[in-house]
Amino acid sequence: MPDPVLALPTLLLTSAVPDAVVVAVPTGPGPDGPVLRGALPVLPDVDVPALLARESAKGEPGEIVAIPVLDGGPPERVLLVGTGDAGPAALRTAGAAVVRRAKGSASLALDLRGLALGAEPVRALAEAVLLASYSYSLKAGAEPRVLQDVTIVVTDAEAWQAVIERARVVARATAQARDLVNTPSLGKTPAWLAGQAGELLTGLRVRVREEEALSKEGFGGVIAVGQGSSRPPRVIEVTYDGGGDRHVVLVGKGITFDTGGLSLKTNDGLQLMKTDMGGAAAVLATVRAVADLGLPVKVTALAMAAENMPSGTAQRPGDVITQYGGRTVEVLNTDAEGRLVLADGIAYAERVLAPDVIVDVATLTGAMPVALGKKHAGLFATQDLLATQLLAAGAAAGERVWRMPLVEDYRQALESPVADLRNIGDPKLKLQGGSITAALFLREFAGQRPFAHLDIAGPAWSGADDEELSKGATGYGVRLLVRWLEVLSALPH
Ligand code: BES
Ligand code: MN
Ligand code: ZN
Repeated sequence: MPDPVLALPTLLLTSAVPDAVVVAVPTGPGPDGPVLRGALPVLPDVDVPALLARESAKGEPGEIVAIPVLDGGPPERVLLVGTGDAGPAALRTAGAAVVRRAKGSASLALDLRGLALGAEPVRALAEAVLLASYSYSLKAGAEPRVLQDVTIVVTDAEAWQAVIERARVVARATAQARDLVNTPSLGKTPAWLAGQAGELLTGLRVRVREEEALSKEGFGGVIAVGQGSSRPPRVIEVTYDGGGDRHVVLVGKGITFDTGGLSLKTNDGLQLMKTDMGGAAAVLATVRAVADLGLPVKVTALAMAAENMPSGTAQRPGDVITQYGGRTVEVLNTDAEGRLVLADGIAYAERVLAPDVIVDVATLTGAMPVALGKKHAGLFATQDLLATQLLAAGAAAGERVWRMPLVEDYRQALESPVADLRNIGDPKLKLQGGSITAALFLREFAGQRPFAHLDIAGPAWSGADDEELSKGATGYGVRLLVRWLEVLSALPH
């Protein structure tokens, strides 16, 4: 297979405008219409207010008015880009819009010297510039990425170097997660994912459990889900220890393809199921970023990798399996497989790793995007403090999260006459709330430890280029989790 990784452009920070093919200058809404927030040294004769009025510009985030430079260059083109209130969300939108407009040019400079800057807007813009440059293609004749260099121009470059470096690290990790998710399942086996984790996490010890170890140690959910596939399951464990006395475990759903198993999906239902390892990709990439940033925290990622296939060796509806730690589960729908692999990871974390907090990330239920749409992940948390932290991290990072309730009344829907739990809510009780019963199922395995579950079935994939998201895998979760760990690791314990 050809290498799809069109690495991101280089992001530079300077205090003088370089010779770039495209130069972008901010505009914003003023009391009497849009105003330029900067200067146009290359186009001294252009009447900018008249031009903006002619184009009905308002200075809104992401709005672009392009001015070709006819004599000479560079630049060959100046882009007037709306920056609205110049806050993080506005600059995220503006950064993505500029890059999409300039992606056919080799170099781009964004002259921000006329903006009042803060760390958050600069970071949001830098992340968006890099993430909107991402694309994935396996076409034999795919055009290589044209945009090579993006330069952000500020008055005091030194002051923003650390912020830009954070953005580079987070964007790179997000792109790596996107690559893993965009990879077709033909080659994306659990063993392949383990190999990729080893490459992604060079410098850290990556421990991979194969079938024998999984059976021996009692990872019964992973074994049961993976047993229908000729391509056996893996549990990938990696720890970064940056000191501090907090230990966070991140558990990621790593179903490399979800057919539903014997509870087979429809053809429509199968279309996006190569993305069912988006949670695993997010937690692995998060550890990469946290290590690159050297955050003072200990983080373990557990990627629970299995392929859910129907076959003569597949698990059957009605089977009773034993999860890690000994709890039994009656499997009534083999398409509710994510919770089975996650339960092993959560129970293993709870009992063996004994962390301060457990967070899982999973493309868990089709009901989640029905409830919240494609832009929000559902957050379930056993503690308000943890929920507040994750909501704040998502808001700051530009990955939206909405808190969902762990409705105690629905717990009864998970009672089984023959096992400790059933893997889907009992439809006879007509309680609905499939995302909630899935979360309640997972909670059973976290013991008394603070626990949160992020259902990313909606935002893991984007159907179109959309601001900083490129069509396909979004890498959802990386920005949110890194942000949370940045804040958490700076808090006194
Ligand atoms: N991987 C799916 C959930 C999913 C659906 C993710 C659509 C992204 C887009 C999950 O394993 C699944 O099949 N869930 C079932 C649960 C049901 C059988 C209780 C579902 O949502 O239908
Ligand atoms: Mn499924
Ligand atoms: Zn699934």
